[in-house]
Amino acid sequence: MCGIVGYVGRQNATPILLEGLHRLAYRGYDSSGIALAKAGKLSVHKAKGKVRALESSLPKRISGTTGIAHTRWATHGEPSDRNAHPHVDPAGRIAVVHNGIVENASGLRRVLEADGAEFESDTDTEVLAHMIARSGAPKLEDAVRDVLQKVEGAYGIAVVSADEPDTIVVARNGSPVVLGVGEHEMFVASDASALVRHTSQVIYLDDGEMAVVARNGYQTSTLDAVPTDKTPTTVQSQGDAHDRGDYAHFMRKEIAEQPEAVTRMLQGRLDQRFMSAHFGGLNLEPRALLDISRVKILGCGSAFISGSNGAQIIEQLARIPTSAEPASEFRYRNPVIERDTLYIAVSQSGETLDTMMAVQEIKRKGGRVLGVINVVGSTIARLCDGGVYLHAGPEIAVVSTKTFTSTLVAFALLGLYLGRIRDLSPSAGRRLIDGLQKLPGQIEEILAGEAHIKAVAEKYANSRDMFFIGRALGFPVALEGALKLKEVSYIHAEAYPASELKHGPLALICPETPTVAILPRDDLFEKNVSSVEEVRARKGPLIAITHDGELPVVVDDRIDVPRTEPELDPILMGIPLQLLAYHSAVALNRDVDQPRNLAKSVTVE
Ligand code: AGP
Repeated sequence: MCGIVGYVGRQNATPILLEGLHRLAYRGYDSSGIALAKAGKLSVHKAKGKVRALESSLPKRISGTTGIAHTRWATHGEPSDRNAHPHVDPAGRIAVVHNGIVENASGLRRVLEADGAEFESDTDTEVLAHMIARSGAPKLEDAVRDVLQKVEGAYGIAVVSADEPDTIVVARNGSPVVLGVGEHEMFVASDASALVRHTSQVIYLDDGEMAVVARNGYQTSTLDAVPTDKTPTTVQSQGDAHDRGDYAHFMRKEIAEQPEAVTRMLQGRLDQRFMSAHFGGLNLEPRALLDISRVKILGCGSAFISGSNGAQIIEQLARIPTSAEPASEFRYRNPVIERDTLYIAVSQSGETLDTMMAVQEIKRKGGRVLGVINVVGSTIARLCDGGVYLHAGPEIAVVSTKTFTSTLVAFALLGLYLGRIRDLSPSAGRRLIDGLQKLPGQIEEILAGEAHIKAVAEKYANSRDMFFIGRALGFPVALEGALKLKEVSYIHAEAYPASELKHGPLALICPETPTVAILPRDDLFEKNVSSVEEVRARKGPLIAITHDGELPVVVDDRIDVPRTEPELDPILMGIPLQLLAYHSAVALNRDVDQPRNLAKSVTVE
């Protein structure tokens, strides 16, 4: 989704801003732009398409020590040069970049038009540039503050003015803004990953807060001009996360990183003494957890799917009724919030607006929320009462792979922990701990079989439709397999509980429509085999994700994964499906890391 980067200091801002834009590209975007403030004038350049298009459109000599830049993901108006940010006022003296949506933009625009304003773009952001220029306030800070009092909606903005070329004014309401502190230089971004190459000292603005940023420091205040006191926190270096190394795509790199990601997830969290799990940040005593009579898990997309797996795991291991719901639905239905329900919000980015709004709704009504989140210090992580960080490392590809797997591991640990507080026996705890410890090596084994999975992917890559079926714990695996395939290859893929096949979708099974069957050798193996038979009888090609040993049904292709504890099967069975999606997309020559229309963190409604 849209990204903001800004620089004020002594260096030429252009290369710093462009490098920041490249780092933000993973969020998904359709155009980009840059504005430099220098010697009382602004120079603004924008281009539809990749940041490379912007780079090649820039004049050879372009410099300035203060600037802002943006990657745009269209909300108001099609992707185009003219709708790209920054947007300027008619005199070209104010430039604004903006993430989020100004909800009352059309009303504000009508008022300005009635007063003679003419607009260059279809965006809500241009309205802000006009209003700031017209505000009449002597200082940029006051002009921005005046305008934001009239704006409804969610935003993160950065503004520069030709009249104050050594200052960037930023503000946040619902969309992240981070400041980076350097030596006689300051950085601004919507995502700390755009800053970490320059500084580890960052300040996260809160909602309703703004900052005036200059080369030698920053001043923060509320939108009502009450000064706030913010001290920098240290963010960890993200190593080579933004470097693909020898991998053709970030998605492939991140799939390969899963053994280490799972190892990090497990580090320090296995309690060998009590056959349980350790969590440092739940902020809930076992006594309080004993009073919980229900668990509700919320998230969007893959985060919701991992929550559906988590719901089954927690219910099985801890015998607490648990359900999962898309956060995007939950937030709109005036949900009943119960005192004895534990709410869990899942989000890789920690910035997904729908999930954030669901958390706010729960907290507003007095509920308790834990987060299962990858990005440390993200908005949702800070909103939650406690939680579990995945420590999977930055995920750059738009599609989730390693964070999905790490979330499943987080739920296995939570299930173990909640189970051991209740009736799960020490021997069952031992069994799970042993299984968890073997996972990184078993994932290595699956990755070693990539050539075979690639061949299967290439065999079916020209299919128009595909089905994914699974039962119980296998169903979220099927859901995620189908989501991955459609996201990166654009093949239409549907997931169904295997038991539901005969209630309708069987009508679509035919020789042209392959079905991927999740077939673990668990208690439901025979039932799953019957569903596979139903597909076979309709001559549908079959790909089984299963364990070694003879299958009592003929399938066209099989991908075996190592045997583990039944509760942990989904963790291993999801991995070949990631590779299946990846190699299908590569065979079809898709934009694997930035699939069309998708964004990494969805910070709009
Ligand atoms: C996953 O491959 C997706 N791109 C998407 O469904 C994602 O999981 C969803 O948007 C939620 O993101 P979050 O985990 O950052 O909240």
